[in-house]
Amino acid sequence: MEQYVIRGGSELKGEVVIGGAKNAALGILAASIMTDEDVLIENIPNVNDINVMLEAIAHLGAKVDRIDEHNVRINASTISSYEVNDDYMRRIRASYYFIGSMLGKYKCAKVPLPGGCAIGARPIDQHIKGFEALNAKINISRGYLSTEAKALKGAHIYFDVVTVGATINVMMAACMAEGQTIIENAAREPHIVDVANFLNSMGAKIKGAGTDTIRIKGVSKLHGTQYTIIPDQIEAGTFMCMAAACRGDILIKNVIPKHLESITAKLLEMGNVVQEFDEAVRVIGAEHQRHTDVKTLPYPGFPTDMQPQITVALALAEGASIVTESVFENRFKYVDELGRMGADIRVERNVAVVDGIKRFSGTSISAPDLRAGAALVIAALQAEGVTHIDGIGFIKRGYEEFDKKIRALGGVIEYINDPNKSEYA
Ligand code: UD1
Repeated sequence: MEQYVIRGGSELKGEVVIGGAKNAALGILAASIMTDEDVLIENIPNVNDINVMLEAIAHLGAKVDRIDEHNVRINASTISSYEVNDDYMRRIRASYYFIGSMLGKYKCAKVPLPGGCAIGARPIDQHIKGFEALNAKINISRGYLSTEAKALKGAHIYFDVVTVGATINVMMAACMAEGQTIIENAAREPHIVDVANFLNSMGAKIKGAGTDTIRIKGVSKLHGTQYTIIPDQIEAGTFMCMAAACRGDILIKNVIPKHLESITAKLLEMGNVVQEFDEAVRVIGAEHQRHTDVKTLPYPGFPTDMQPQITVALALAEGASIVTESVFENRFKYVDELGRMGADIRVERNVAVVDGIKRFSGTSISAPDLRAGAALVIAALQAEGVTHIDGIGFIKRGYEEFDKKIRALGGVIEYINDPNKSEYA
């Protein structure tokens, strides 16, 4: 069984370089099949979710040339199937982006329906509403969503909830619809802007990405491109919270500080030092940190994907903090594991009341999902004694060389595949 074995308490100091944004890359890779010409994508993160997405693209029949771990060339002219295999959906939810990209390009797609997941039910009704508005017929049968359209027609679409996935999915299809599409109440996350910029570099005509109204003029054809993915906001935020929780001093390089503002604001409220540079932020964790309240919201609000990491930092701040999760209903599962490390947190529905303690204590715990897994690693780095974390397959889905980056900062973390073989156990 894979585990991280972590001995807490060492000083975290130094520099870390942030990779490309996983969630932008997932959308961009799905969109890369919308042209028959070569697409060169740079700065992809070398993480499991991205590697599965590339496998799925190859499985559709496209040529996928992994130039090196961070750069890939894709040519979709050889695609021979419009059906995504169920195995990919099981491994990676974002396979549903192929609905938008294939519907746009081929006017048909067959994709397995995503189920719920560890953090909530995650329906796709808004995706379906958007595709239907574009004149696509949707049929759901035997766990698959099939869709086709004689011709996609631009439409005026209002999303009932702010959704990243539906905004990206419908935006992709609308790029190749006849006429104009207007998406209202669109999500505004940095990776939506990145996917839109990528599509525009292929000849799409998208305006307003990053605001709540996106206007798209459909084109009949997209062309090849070369594109560099933005830095990962959540990986950067994770190291920011690590510096705060562990009272470290970390310079986080290759970031867009504007994307980190909601995280910066909270760390400052807690009394930490955050210095912003053009493409870096430095976080110096204060010895005495204050409680504060956090509510997750769509961008530019505080990201739900940072909720577990900031909660770990708040669990070590003086006083009582209130953390409200307003995006996903089931995102406090990791709190039980933190409780086993000594945290004083009570959860009532989507609200956690976090009473600060001085130090966690090491034990054996399990990562329940990707971001919670990263948060538990932060807790273990602060804890007294040794912590064994299993379920780290989740962490590897979204963090590239997480243990190696932490070791370079002075953290004592070991990756093992056999619990009897740990140096620290
Ligand atoms: C994306 C991110 C995920 C992040 C989330 C919120 C990717 C691959 N994943 O997930 O890491 O946590 O945004 O920032 O980019 N909803 C509906 N109907 C729909 C679609 C969504 O009710 O058709 C609801 C969801 O249940 C959730 C909320 O809308 O409560 C936001 O979900 P959404 O923004 O779509 O999240 P994802 O795109 O799945």
